[in-house]
Amino acid sequence: MSSVDELLRIEGIRKTFPGVVALDGVDFDLRQGEVHVLLGENGAGKSTLIKMLSGAYTPDAGRILAGGEEVRIHGAQDSERLGIATIYQEFNLVPDLTVAENIFLGRQPRRFGMIDRKRMEAEAAVLLERVGVNVSPRARVRELGIAWLQMVEIAKALSLDARVLIMDEPTAVLTSEEVEKLFGIVRRLREDGVGIVFITHHLEEIAALGDRVTVIRDGKSVGQVPASTPEDELVRLMVGRSIEQQYPRERAEAGAALLSVEGLTRDGVFHDVSFEVRAGEVVGVAGLVGAGRTEVVRAVFGADPYDRGAVRVGGERLRGYDVSAAMAAGIGLVPEDRKGQGLVLDQSVEENLGLVTMRAATRGGVVDLKGQHVAAARIAEQLGVRMAGLGQQVRTLSGGNQQKVVIGKWLLADTKVLILDEPTRGIDVGAKVEIYQLINELTAAGAAVLMISSDLPEVLGMSDRVLVMAQGRIAGELPAGQATQDSVMALAVSTPTQATTAVEGHRGH
Ligand SMILES: Nc1ncnc2c1ncn2[C@@H]1O[C@H](COP(=O)(O)OP(=O)(O)OP(=O)(O)O)[C@@H](O)[C@H]1O
Ligand SMILES: [Mg+2]
Repeated sequence: MSSVDELLRIEGIRKTFPGVVALDGVDFDLRQGEVHVLLGENGAGKSTLIKMLSGAYTPDAGRILAGGEEVRIHGAQDSERLGIATIYQEFNLVPDLTVAENIFLGRQPRRFGMIDRKRMEAEAAVLLERVGVNVSPRARVRELGIAWLQMVEIAKALSLDARVLIMDEPTAVLTSEEVEKLFGIVRRLREDGVGIVFITHHLEEIAALGDRVTVIRDGKSVGQVPASTPEDELVRLMVGRSIEQQYPRERAEAGAALLSVEGLTRDGVFHDVSFEVRAGEVVGVAGLVGAGRTEVVRAVFGADPYDRGAVRVGGERLRGYDVSAAMAAGIGLVPEDRKGQGLVLDQSVEENLGLVTMRAATRGGVVDLKGQHVAAARIAEQLGVRMAGLGQQVRTLSGGNQQKVVIGKWLLADTKVLILDEPTRGIDVGAKVEIYQLINELTAAGAAVLMISSDLPEVLGMSDRVLVMAQGRIAGELPAGQATQDSVMALAVSTPTQATTAVEGHRGH
């Protein structure tokens, strides 16, 4: 049975990996001109399902129909021929190529057998314009921030003239402004009759953009509901219980300053950044993408250099640009780019969890493997990491479960000052609460937490104080009681006024 406007139908799809039943009977269908949301916890099987449509995996059982006809999708070409374009959760861009080269990778326009660079760049410019992205087609992808990469991926999908567009957590890396822009593009595509499969952990996006929702739990489709379904009902379908309190912050008594940052400056990047985080505190850092938040915390952690200023932990000044000194002083960083910086993908969950604790677990020169195993098992359990076992390769975990491992690694490490850069990106609503509870435990034990987040409700819900950055400066600070969506945004879009002429004069570009 298929209606005229049906683009795709999936019936009883199953897929097993060693030790894991990823999909255990999923039904799904997609119509022309709709946004169909796939909703489910981390590891529920969403990405695996869409990989059946993109040709990355083939099902063990079940059928896929396109326009009423059964089809087999054995690779990217089959998928492309059916008009399916996929934007993966893990980006597929080649960092050393330009934006234009990435968009047209493998199908560059040619002239006399040579790649027609001019035409390629001109066409890329048109696509980027359609997405509303202001980057040069000649910029190298490596130099762009993560939000821009997303837009380049969309431009790339548009260039394929797709009838089905699959987006796996496209908004996880975007700020609210960019999300609006993305929604505009998606709505236009929907009007053009494109069918869109949309995966997100941000429930508020479902009513804003979606038409229908299919809920997946433990590899099974457990329901199909309209996108207007109330959020608490969606949560119940998704996690099988309701969540009473999304932000369970328990304030601890703030003690002495553990982290002090004084006048930190990197010319041309961030200027005169000063703040403290005290024992027991959670300090949130809000701001727009490009405000310099990640750059500042990377410098604090010693991962990037700075030109002036000082970082102190418990009063002791740290040497700049020295990660091991920062770690020895008790600073931990959960980076925003988990794949590039947070994990060793070919190693097991247990090995990754132990990366920071190795030293602590060493007794008389011998690594305490048993102790490490017990600790890893405990934290994985607390965070609800969905895996076949501690020996599973991190590469094969779902996106959200990888993020839990990065966080778990630092939670295990007895960190005094924990810096979290977008900690719950890609984490489902239930698992977020677990992470917040661990943050509570850390601060109750006297640690200091500095949390960058583009998720404003999270910043407001979990911080004791909020710093707002704009244009490489601290634009203002708000105590938890006064921080609102509006007051934070007002600062985030402000132009901080400190006189900067001396510094500007020395900028070398
Ligand atoms: N190549 C693989 N080898 C082994 N297990 C895999 C592989 N790919 C996926 N899995 C497992 O299949 C399950 C479903 O993973 P999937 O990535 O589909 O989840 P998801 O719903 O997309 O979760 P998230 O919200 O975290 O992205 C997980 O338990 C995952 O570890
Ligand atoms: Mg996924």
